[in-house]
Amino acid sequence: MSRRRMIYEGKAKILYEGPEPGTLIQYFKDDATAFNAEKKAVLDGKGVLNNRISEFIMTRLGAVGIPNHFIKRINMREQLIRKVEIIPLEVIVRNVAAGTMSKRLGIAEGETLPRAIVEFCYKKDELGDPLVSEEHIAAFGWASPQELDDIISLALRINDFMSGLFAAVGIRLVDFKLEFGRHFEGDMVRTILADEISPDSCRLWDLVTNEKLDKDRFRRDLGGVTEAYAEVARRLGIIKESAQGGEVVDFSSAGK
Ligand code: C5P
Repeated sequence: MSRRRMIYEGKAKILYEGPEPGTLIQYFKDDATAFNAEKKAVLDGKGVLNNRISEFIMTRLGAVGIPNHFIKRINMREQLIRKVEIIPLEVIVRNVAAGTMSKRLGIAEGETLPRAIVEFCYKKDELGDPLVSEEHIAAFGWASPQELDDIISLALRINDFMSGLFAAVGIRLVDFKLEFGRHFEGDMVRTILADEISPDSCRLWDLVTNEKLDKDRFRRDLGGVTEAYAEVARRLGIIKESAQGGEVVDFSSAGK
C-alpha cells in the first residue's frame, strides 16, 4: 500500500516513518474495535473524520500552549507528527459518570462528578489496560514524578479547554482518553500530548438531548456511528452542510 516503512500498526491507526528525522506519519484507518478488540468492524469514512477532528483539536490546543505531536495534515487520512516515546499510560479525564466508572463504582451514567477526575490505565492489551494508581506508576517507573505532574496538569488544562470548545457547539464532554509521550529536543526531554483526540477517544453527548455522538454508538450497537462523528465535525465547523442538508465530506480521494 505504501512505499514508506511501517513503524507500528494499532487498532485504528498506522504509523509510518516520516520524511524528516524525528517525524512520523499517522494514518487513520476505518477500523473500529471495542472491548479490547473483541468487537470489530470497518466504518466507512471514520478515519477521514477522525483525522480532521484530531487535527482541529490538536491545532487549537497548540494555540493555547498545550505542547502536542501534531505538525500538519498531509491528506484525507494522514498527518505528520513529531516522533515521541510513548509513556505507557492511558490518561482518562472524567466530568460525568459513564462507562467503566459507572460500572465499577455503581454511579448512574450521566451523573455529574463533583470535580474532574483523572484516572490512569496501564497500556497493556494482553491485560486489558488495567486501572492503576500513581503508586504503581511511581513504583514501576512508567513515568517519573515530574512527568506525572506534567501529565496531570496538562490533562486538566486540556479538559478545561475542550469542555468549553464542545459546550460552545452544544456538546457535553463526558470523558476522554489521552496519551502522552517524551519528545527529545537536543538534550532536553519534554512531555507532550500524542495519539489522537476524536469521537473514538471521547464521550460526547448532545447538551440538550443527551444523544451519544461518539464510539459508544459502536460499542452499544446504536447505529449511525459515522453519521454521529460527522455531526461532531459539522458542529465544530470542520465540514460544511450541503444545500441538500447532507454533509460535504469528500471520501473519494480518501485512499484506503
Ligand atoms: O471505558 P471507559 O469508561 O473507561 O472510557 C473512558 C473514556 O476513555 C471514554 O471516552 C473512552 O472512549 C476512552 N477510552 C479510549 N481508549 C481506551 C479506553 C478508554 O479511548 N482504551
